[in-house]
Amino acid sequence: MKLLVLGSGGREHALVWKLAQSRHVTQMFVAPGNAGTAAECLAANGAPVQNVAIGAEDIPALVAWAQANRPDFTVVGPDGALGAGVVDAFQAAGFKIWGPNQRAAQFEASKVFSQDFMERHGIPTAKSGTFADPVAAKRFCATLGGRCAVKADGLALGKGVLLAGNVDEAERAVDEIMVDKAFGTAGARVVVQEFLEGMEISLHALCDGKMAKLFPTSQDHKRALDGDQGLNTGGMGTYSPAPFLTDAELADVGRQILNPWLAGCAADGIDFRGLLYPGVMLTKSGPKVIEFNARFGDPETQVYLPRLENDLVELLLASAEGRLADVELEWSPSACVCVVLASGGYPGSYAKGKVIHGLDQANALPGVKVFHAGTATKDGQTVTSGGRVLGVTAWAPTLRAARDQAYAAANVICFEGIQYRRDIAAKGLR
Ligand code: AMP
Ligand code: GLY
Repeated sequence: MKLLVLGSGGREHALVWKLAQSRHVTQMFVAPGNAGTAAECLAANGAPVQNVAIGAEDIPALVAWAQANRPDFTVVGPDGALGAGVVDAFQAAGFKIWGPNQRAAQFEASKVFSQDFMERHGIPTAKSGTFADPVAAKRFCATLGGRCAVKADGLALGKGVLLAGNVDEAERAVDEIMVDKAFGTAGARVVVQEFLEGMEISLHALCDGKMAKLFPTSQDHKRALDGDQGLNTGGMGTYSPAPFLTDAELADVGRQILNPWLAGCAADGIDFRGLLYPGVMLTKSGPKVIEFNARFGDPETQVYLPRLENDLVELLLASAEGRLADVELEWSPSACVCVVLASGGYPGSYAKGKVIHGLDQANALPGVKVFHAGTATKDGQTVTSGGRVLGVTAWAPTLRAARDQAYAAANVICFEGIQYRRDIAAKGLR
């Protein structure tokens, strides 16, 4: 089978690494990929994975590439490509592709759409309001005492959410998004949610248009600095499982969210075939969805896929073809931890092109895989090319051992300006 994977981050390297283990895959291309994806080889025949220099959102060029190269199956990583309608374009051209279509991808592409859907279909979520007018938005913030999350409606590279603790901060957040247009047209409308207290976890469910199969729990670390301080980032590290829910509690939380979500999709005629990733706050009054994403999490994927025992090609085909009832997800009991190594200055501005040392030594440690995110190859060397550079991932029988091994591997890697959190998985070990 000839496979095309779209994207270039750590999530996509993890997807490529796992898909390359499938006995079904005899050729694999990644558009555009990174230095890590280009270093993978297929288990079936040893063939190298090949990067293709086309951006994941350049839909006309991707369709033209598919028409010339005839992939049997395409797997989409990033939300931008889904929101831009890559699935619809490939299907219209007669190609099989995994991921939600543009209408279904609105769960992530529009927070207004998602919030309205949750309220109409009884999915537990924060008290909220949706506004196109900054004055009305501020009035609602004031009714919450200013303790709220102000969210740009559209996609904003994971940065379109501002948290406020008082009325002044809330008004500034509304102005930043709606008046100063910090996130451009994504902020033409906002969702304002009450501020939820509790433990935040990531859920993932693979969906086929009719049913949803829940993954184990994981937890991300969104803030840049230790102790959940500093700016929001795309995610500085993850671990799985997160010990805040028993298996029975997880199944119950999954039911509270996924049953009304599936019923709502059926009622509204939404055919969601892909990965639903609800961000959930475990509050004193029960689980509440703070947002939906319509793709694998990054860096959640880096800790899920080493634990997944199924053939990922078979799972994604079953999802795309509406056959999930026939498959059972199988997970290794091991724990997995991913520590993100970032460029100095991230999530603000940062330098690129720094030579990365120690990758081979880190990868040689037992139970370790270094997933590349923002990397490129230059003059035969691996160099930094993004804010999140690497996801150093380790698995072991216990969370503590996996955490220690991930940090042992992180400690042998260096590049100028390297920064990473030292407390990934600490909440799970308390
Ligand atoms: P989002 O992109 O919607 O996941 O928001 C980014 C981050 O902001 C989340 O991961 C939470 O940590 C935080 N957040 C979002 N909404 C809320 C809320 N209603 N209450 C408290 N924290 C929130
Ligand atoms: N882990 C955060 C995200 O994928 O959006």
